[in-house]
Amino acid sequence: MKSFFLRHLPLAAFITTAALAGAPEGKTLYASKCQGCHGPNGEGKDAIAKMFKVTMQPLSSKEVQAKSDADIKKAITTGQGKMKPVPGLSGSQVADLVAHMRTLKK
Ligand code: HEC
Repeated sequence: MKSFFLRHLPLAAFITTAALAGAPEGKTLYASKCQGCHGPNGEGKDAIAKMFKVTMQPLSSKEVQAKSDADIKKAITTGQGKMKPVPGLSGSQVADLVAHMRTLKK
């Protein structure tokens, strides 16, 4: 029993690390792909909101955080309202961005 646990310990550690790894990756991507419009903490830039004539909900807000991961991925890859799809992202990069967005939650 003990040897079973020890043998699988590295695997468990690996899975935990992999699940958490997305957030720092996503932070870098966010800075280059999203921050220009959404601001460093997802608060939304006034100039962008004015230009698109929309109210940008903070990405940290209850309303945006209530969306499922799938909804957020959809907003990124197919666009939402006035936001155009963000091109050139792989599936895992989109997942990393969602992981980062979850860290913005207040
Ligand atoms: C060119 C500016 C621009 C860029 C770049 C951009 N966004 Fe947006 N985003 C917007 C605007 C404007 C809205 C609001 C759209 C609307 O309400 O019509 C929005 C809305 C959203 C929403 C939906 C929020 C809600 O209220 O439901 C999410 C999620 C989102 N953006 C995530 C991202 C992520 C993640 C990235 C980077 C991969 C990104 N955006 C890049 C301008 C941008």
